[in-house]
Amino acid sequence: MTSTAAARGGSRDLRAMSGGTAVCGGAAGAHAPAGDPDPIDPDDLIDPVEPSALAALIAGRRSVRAFRPEPLSRELLAELFSAAQHAPSWCNIQPWRVIVTSPALTAALGADVLAAYEAGERGPEIPFPPEYPEPYLAHRRACAGALYSAMGIARGDEDGRMDAWRRNYRFFGAPHAAIVSIDRRLGAYAMLDLGVWLGIVLTQAAAMGIATCPMASIAAYPGPVRRRLPIGEHQAIAVAIALGFADDAAPANRCQTRRAPLDANLTFAGISEDPDADW
Ligand SMILES: Cc1cc2nc3c(=O)[nH]c(=O)nc-3n(C[C@H](O)[C@H](O)[C@H](O)COP(=O)(O)O)c2cc1C
Repeated sequence: MTSTAAARGGSRDLRAMSGGTAVCGGAAGAHAPAGDPDPIDPDDLIDPVEPSALAALIAGRRSVRAFRPEPLSRELLAELFSAAQHAPSWCNIQPWRVIVTSPALTAALGADVLAAYEAGERGPEIPFPPEYPEPYLAHRRACAGALYSAMGIARGDEDGRMDAWRRNYRFFGAPHAAIVSIDRRLGAYAMLDLGVWLGIVLTQAAAMGIATCPMASIAAYPGPVRRRLPIGEHQAIAVAIALGFADDAAPANRCQTRRAPLDANLTFAGISEDPDADW
């Protein structure tokens, strides 16, 4: 994908772009539902998003942990997930499977998941990390610290922390939850596909003014999720996404996480800092 094609962001354009055609291995179009529109030719697109505007959108997205009760329309939800249908995946297998719940179902599911948590019915279908070695542990602690300090919960206030944590299981009051599963027969690379898709969902949602929180915590309690929703036997519940409009006044939504400097994650190999270097 070219950088200009990748940076198309107008949600109107993206609505027109829903659907796609398989081109890697197997019959072309094998995964395209009947009636799916053809992919748009990048040359036909107008009004490309400035790279800096896209970077600002990505940098400005936040996980939201307090929502207003108003639901999103089905049309808006379809627009969001249609955009993410264009996510790349290895051989275009498109392994993400998603169920989005209504406000009533979200509330009922949240009550069930919270009850499962209280009853200790933990059992993630995809193993959670057994431990976080450094430097990940430090990042993890800083992330929790940022949230609890935004919420005014003191370091030693274990009850306060537990109450804040429990809010996970009610999807932080979001009107909708997207429950995302993956076919367990596909292995680790399909999880990579899922992560690419998830990043696009979160970014597109930010562009549309939709608040999100990706949530692995829900995946620790698959029992109540399976009792409420039609999730196939080959599917493993990977993550949920709380969806709605942000409650901007809520202290939890003042949480701001930081990122390490670029050189913690990126190494230039044979690429000089000197812009005139010949390589
Ligand atoms: C796969 C995944 C799972 C996550 N699970 C949870 C979760 O269960 N509960 C939660 O409050 N945040 C969860 N988060 C949000 C992260 O804590 C958040 O992305 C991180 O702290 C960076 O903050 P930011 O999203 O505001 O930039 C998850 C994020 C990802 C990508």
